[in-house]
Amino acid sequence: MAVFSCFNFKTKKMKLIDDLKWRYATKKYSNKKVANDDLEKIVEAINLSASSIGMQTYRLFVIEDQALKKELGEGSFNSQIAECSHLLIFAAFDSINGETIDNYIEFVAKERETPVEELTNFKNTIRDYLLARTDDENFIWSAKQAYIGLGTALIAAAALKIDATPMEGFDAEKFDKILRLKEKKLKSVVLLALGYRDEENDYLAKLKKVRIPIQEFCTKVG
Ligand SMILES: Cc1cc2nc3c(=O)[nH]c(=O)nc-3n(C[C@H](O)[C@H](O)[C@H](O)COP(=O)(O)O)c2cc1C
Repeated sequence: MAVFSCFNFKTKKMKLIDDLKWRYATKKYSNKKVANDDLEKIVEAINLSASSIGMQTYRLFVIEDQALKKELGEGSFNSQIAECSHLLIFAAFDSINGETIDNYIEFVAKERETPVEELTNFKNTIRDYLLARTDDENFIWSAKQAYIGLGTALIAAAALKIDATPMEGFDAEKFDKILRLKEKKLKSVVLLALGYRDEENDYLAKLKKVRIPIQEFCTKVG
């Protein structure tokens, strides 16, 4: 019979845990810019995220241009859109068709130097799985993959001591229009502001991080 209990969490220190305690959803950014080198590390970390079937059915847009950030941020309660150093936009594919799957299979074959015929069963399994679903269902699935990338980005930024804010508070249709995402069969799903906190003017900077006690959050079964 399964035994329900919790870990005692008296493990050794881990730098990543300290980084995650340090980070918070920054409300106010200073003018300091994120260096290109660091930005590239965060983008690479996102690209290395796991995704279902490995298909990475979302794309990332990095906005640095101040005028464009301002335009995107107009009307949103999230002033971070305009004030951050760089704005990351996670956009998921609005649909998946047979060609997308075939292209992915060809890409895997090429990368792994495998004859494409060896991947026929894999391809047919993916086709059966994805093409039986509606475009909306596949869009939601792709959006979930984008959120995994968002999580990686939050961790990578914290490890580099770069502040970040995940944001759903934005007008996705407006973003899609300005960035012409529809032409690319993409829809924006979530944002990540990157930059450096304005500690003096950010009311959240000194507030305690609020989390459910781990014993309540996590149950060890068996
Ligand atoms: C998917 C998602 C969407 C969020 N949207 C916003 C947002 O639009 N604006 C904002 O200031 N914070 C937003 N947040 C930040 C959360 O409010 C914040 O992560 C949460 O309160 C926990 O606090 P912490 O991240 O500072 O530890 C969002 C977070 C997530 C994960």
